[in-house]
Amino acid sequence: MENEVQKKRILSGIQPSGNLTLGSYLGAIKNWAALADEYDCYYMMADMHTITVRQVPADLRRNTLTQLAAYIASGLDPEKNVLFVQSHVPAHAQLGWVLDCYTMFGELSRMTQFKDKSAKNADNINAGLFTYPALMAGDILLYQADLVPVGGDQKQHVEICRDIANRFNGIYGETFKIPEPYIPKVGARIMSLTSPENKMSKSDKDPNGCVYMLEKPEDIMRKFKKAVTDSDACVRFDPENKPGVSNLMQIYSAATGAAFEQIEAEFAGRGYGDFKKAVGESVVEMLRPIREETERLLSDKAYLETIYRSGAERASYVANRTLGKVYKKVGFLAR
Ligand code: TYM
Repeated sequence: MENEVQKKRILSGIQPSGNLTLGSYLGAIKNWAALADEYDCYYMMADMHTITVRQVPADLRRNTLTQLAAYIASGLDPEKNVLFVQSHVPAHAQLGWVLDCYTMFGELSRMTQFKDKSAKNADNINAGLFTYPALMAGDILLYQADLVPVGGDQKQHVEICRDIANRFNGIYGETFKIPEPYIPKVGARIMSLTSPENKMSKSDKDPNGCVYMLEKPEDIMRKFKKAVTDSDACVRFDPENKPGVSNLMQIYSAATGAAFEQIEAEFAGRGYGDFKKAVGESVVEMLRPIREETERLLSDKAYLETIYRSGAERASYVANRTLGKVYKKVGFLAR
């Protein structure tokens, strides 16, 4: 228990369901690296969540490995952070099942992501898509995480995780730590560049709406140059009336650290053309070293293998302790 007393824990993850987006980077990964000294950090490739939507198997394998390389390239030192693949730690599936039995149909029905994804995948509304939040609750609770650093869209899932944990603790006594969501002030909700009323997402129908972390600079610049703005010709933060410009300001602020007032001053009296070019360049420069390092790491598969193997071992150790407690509490006969 020494570790649990000394350092608070963090758990988070991303689905390797395609190329990593600028939204996932600014909403999640970018903020993770700074936490390693203060917290005991666990970050996973959430591959089990990914199959709730049909995947091409070879792509899923490739995306999982690329995601690991991108985590490391983004500054997550594998010595200081436990980096692992969810399916390599069977306790996730095992606790997920137990928690399914403590999660209510009604509360799952209210999940925004379920409603969105079932609308987008009307021919494959499977049980996994529905019970996804119980699996995610298990991911977090297995590590007794204090904090879950995510973008704003995952807040509802962390809240249901708290409800499930409180319910379980209420029945069986203190078993799970109750986690808090940890959402960045800037970058928590990056919107599509072409339809700024929607979240930036890899499932965006318009390929120009979503920027990818590992995309070529010229493609990133082209997307920013095409980004939707308005007819007001004034760089001002006003998400309600100027969603496109405000989204670009969020991105610029997250990439450069500049406050909104500074950005307004910098572009006062200048056209949107200049502004969009500057935002694009700030993103290109932020991502360039990450892309180059990811490519380098991907050429060393043996190294990546050692990282995910040791990650699985370190994660399993913690996860199995929690799973053991849970099995005992619910009344499973010890083997
Ligand atoms: P996923 O894979 O959809 O997204 C990964 C992370 O990126 C954030 N994010 C965004 N942030 C800001 N703006 C955006 N446009 C944007 N798009 C994505 C998400 O909030 C998230 O932090 N269910 C999770 C994965 C997961 C998980 C977990 C997370 C599985 N188990 C346990 C935390 C803890 C998901 O689908 O994220």
